[in-house]
Amino acid sequence: MTRTLLTVVGARPQFIKAAPVSHALRRAGGVREILVHTGQHFDAAMSDIFFQELDIAPPAHNLEVNSLGHGAMTGRMLEKLEIVMQAEKPDAVMIYGDTNSTVAGALAAAKLHIPVAHVEAGLRSFNRRMPEEINRVMADHLSALLLSPTQAGVDNLAAEGIVQGVHHAGDVMYDITLSAVARARGESSILAREGLSPKGYQVATIHRAENTDNPERFERVLAWLEQAAQTMPVVMPVHPRTGKLLEAQGRKLANIRLIAPLGYLDMAWLVNQSAGVMTDSGGLQKEAYFHRVPCTTLRDETEWVETIESGWNRLWTTREYAERREIADYGTGHASDLIATKVKELMG
Ligand code: UD1
Repeated sequence: MTRTLLTVVGARPQFIKAAPVSHALRRAGGVREILVHTGQHFDAAMSDIFFQELDIAPPAHNLEVNSLGHGAMTGRMLEKLEIVMQAEKPDAVMIYGDTNSTVAGALAAAKLHIPVAHVEAGLRSFNRRMPEEINRVMADHLSALLLSPTQAGVDNLAAEGIVQGVHHAGDVMYDITLSAVARARGESSILAREGLSPKGYQVATIHRAENTDNPERFERVLAWLEQAAQTMPVVMPVHPRTGKLLEAQGRKLANIRLIAPLGYLDMAWLVNQSAGVMTDSGGLQKEAYFHRVPCTTLRDETEWVETIESGWNRLWTTREYAERREIADYGTGHASDLIATKVKELMG
């Protein structure tokens, strides 16, 4: 019998993570997936291009909730998701990562007694000032199936008393990176378009509220990037939040080229061919490792502890990298198939 899975996405990294899982569900068969886009990320460069490039089915519902404070955003999503879930009556709800869309999806489903599957469960920064950390903790405690990309995630869940339904699944972003690199090699023209030479530039991104919302800290991050740019040019695809702030402040950045947000293939190739990455993004820290490019994380802690331990990533608060080694945690590029199997089991 065909089962119905309702997937909630809303922010850029969720479109990327949902793509390989959707493909794996299609391959496995027996599942009708209903995609709900909360609307959190809404413009073409932050949303539509990912649906096209990554072959994601268009959302069955777009809730168009965006550009609001945390309370209003999460509240409106919760209200609208409940209505959609009551109408669609899914056998399970799938959520991704740590955004406001994640926690709204988890809460709406749990209150309707629909089992929740969380992809990227168990990650912790142990910094409750980050909205993402609150979202993760809540989402995990509401989930029946917890699919962790790493062993550290499994251990974090155990420390919070969550052991049922927990699996070390590997990382779906590794799955999609493998196929993206293979395609981008032939299809991406990003280096030519920006006049860049392989290994002759660094890539930077900033968007975390913890970095952008405090003016003093934001300035510290910008000054740090400007210093790094003295040794080698920096290219920075600008997140809308960061772009709005730079514009409002009239802040110019020395030796840093600001470019519009990129699609997934161009971004994969930009990182693959770079000499280094500097970012406050969780996803990009790991992607840097997938491309075997060293990363500096512009935060005081990270959820991806194995990237630090393996010498491919360092926090901006430390000067040295650990000794380099490979990371086994993220799997072999088949995390999505395992997740599809576990979700089908959950739905019976
Ligand atoms: C969210 C997630 C974060 C994730 C990030 C990836 C939360 C709490 N945070 O942060 O975990 O790593 O997405 O990008 O959910 N905007 C646009 N166009 C868009 C999207 C956003 O202009 O397409 C604007 C919004 O109006 C807002 C700002 O950018 O002013 C920030 O957007 P927001 O939805 O708050 O989330 P992110 O900062 O992206």
